[in-house]
Amino acid sequence: MALKKGVDVKPATGKLGILLPGMGAVATTFIAGVIAVRRGLAKPIGSLTQMGTIRLGKRTDATSPMLKDYVSIAPIDNVAFGGWDIFHDDAYAAAVRAGVLDTRLLDQMKDELEAIKPMPAVFEQTWVKKLNGPNVKKGTSKMDLAEQVMEDIKKFKATNNCDRLVAVWCGSTEVYRKPTETHSTLAKFEEGLRNSSDDIAPSQIYAYACLKLGVPYANGAPNLAVDFPAAIELARKNQVPISGKDFKTGQTLMKTILAPGFKARLLGLQGWYSTNILGNRDGEVLDDPESFKSKEVTKLGVLDHILQPHLYPDLYGHIDHVVRINYYPPRGDNKEGWDNIDIVGWLGYPMQIKVNFLCRDSILAAPIVLDLALFMDFASRAGMAGVQEWLSFYWKSPMTQEGLYPEHDLFIQLMKLKNTLRYTKGDELITHLGAEYYD
Ligand SMILES: NC(=O)c1ccc[n+]([C@@H]2O[C@H](COP(=O)([O-])OP(=O)(O)OC[C@H]3O[C@@H](n4cnc5c(N)ncnc54)[C@H](O)[C@@H]3O)[C@@H](O)[C@H]2O)c1
Repeated sequence: MALKKGVDVKPATGKLGILLPGMGAVATTFIAGVIAVRRGLAKPIGSLTQMGTIRLGKRTDATSPMLKDYVSIAPIDNVAFGGWDIFHDDAYAAAVRAGVLDTRLLDQMKDELEAIKPMPAVFEQTWVKKLNGPNVKKGTSKMDLAEQVMEDIKKFKATNNCDRLVAVWCGSTEVYRKPTETHSTLAKFEEGLRNSSDDIAPSQIYAYACLKLGVPYANGAPNLAVDFPAAIELARKNQVPISGKDFKTGQTLMKTILAPGFKARLLGLQGWYSTNILGNRDGEVLDDPESFKSKEVTKLGVLDHILQPHLYPDLYGHIDHVVRINYYPPRGDNKEGWDNIDIVGWLGYPMQIKVNFLCRDSILAAPIVLDLALFMDFASRAGMAGVQEWLSFYWKSPMTQEGLYPEHDLFIQLMKLKNTLRYTKGDELITHLGAEYYD
């Protein structure tokens, strides 16, 4: 839906409930992190909504308010957390198990974290081969399961006295499947739910339940949780924002920082070999070739879109792009990513760049979950329905309007995000045109 310039955004009154299907490493690092920030125990580093500023007007105006003071962003003091998982672990136990945050920090918030218990999940092992857990719903059909999720959502909202809700899928990566006829229209998808079609994944059942109830849904994994025509139709019909897919965190973040730089300087590229070792549950799930296929697809698309080989065949026409993820338990959540980049300079002379990123997967993902939850709530209050392209900044494989290619360049994505916010306020967009050219 087209956005009007200078929209009236409904105020963020009351409490915002953040629902997380999948309460593993990312979700619990996010929840515990927000509580820690709320209590003044740590800083929300990496979060644009909490620490970012936005320039307004000319450079000489020196006006750069905090982004959260500029647009109506829900305050983190007034959010509640809920979620679903196939395991019974509460948020404290799951965070300890994930091993991302120090238990000395978690212990200071133990009571609050223990009170966040996962609701029984919608789960089918055919979609995540390496997992099986006891906290799973039973239903007569997939529609019945969707209705149970809707009941969970309504109950959560009432019990926690929430004014509004948003959902961010933080569940495991499901196996790779292309959309089928069942996903093509809302009517066919609903028929598929009633017939328990094998084509419908658990992540899509949560998405359907959320969209039916007007709850914005963002998809942190590479599978098609909300990225299919029937979901887009429902989002438009019910005027709900959707966004995805696959949080842009470690290696792909680096790729979308470096590749725009090579292209800006017209340095050629012969090949980009990326490999990772990862030892958390996500790494174990991705050890299954079918789940890895979902990841591979979102990771590989990035370079082509940034480098535009059709415009620069001499520079980017033949790139060997390889991505590997190896499950290596001793490394836990502290992933190590290596990149070997073969670039080409003046007269075709080759050069090499090596990147060794010793990152922390969930530490990079948690602020993204926070920003997405708050921006999706903002979008909903601003009347922005359907695919939220302005949030491409956060995604490895951004969903787009039909027929458009995704924008992967991190710096264009950030400009798009901030300009969208300026636009909602009716302010001038920043073009970076020199001051001497203004009237
Ligand atoms: N950490 C990152 O940097 C990053 C980046 C991009 C994408 N992701 C994606 O985010 C997701 C979460 O990552 P993580 O490290 O927290 O993984 P994790 O394995 O620690 O957590 C995933 C949780 O989802 C649960 N789950 C699986 N299927 C479910 C279902 N149908 N319903 C409810 N719960 C379900 C699992 O039991 C598990 O607790 C993964 O899909 C991962 O690929 C993570």
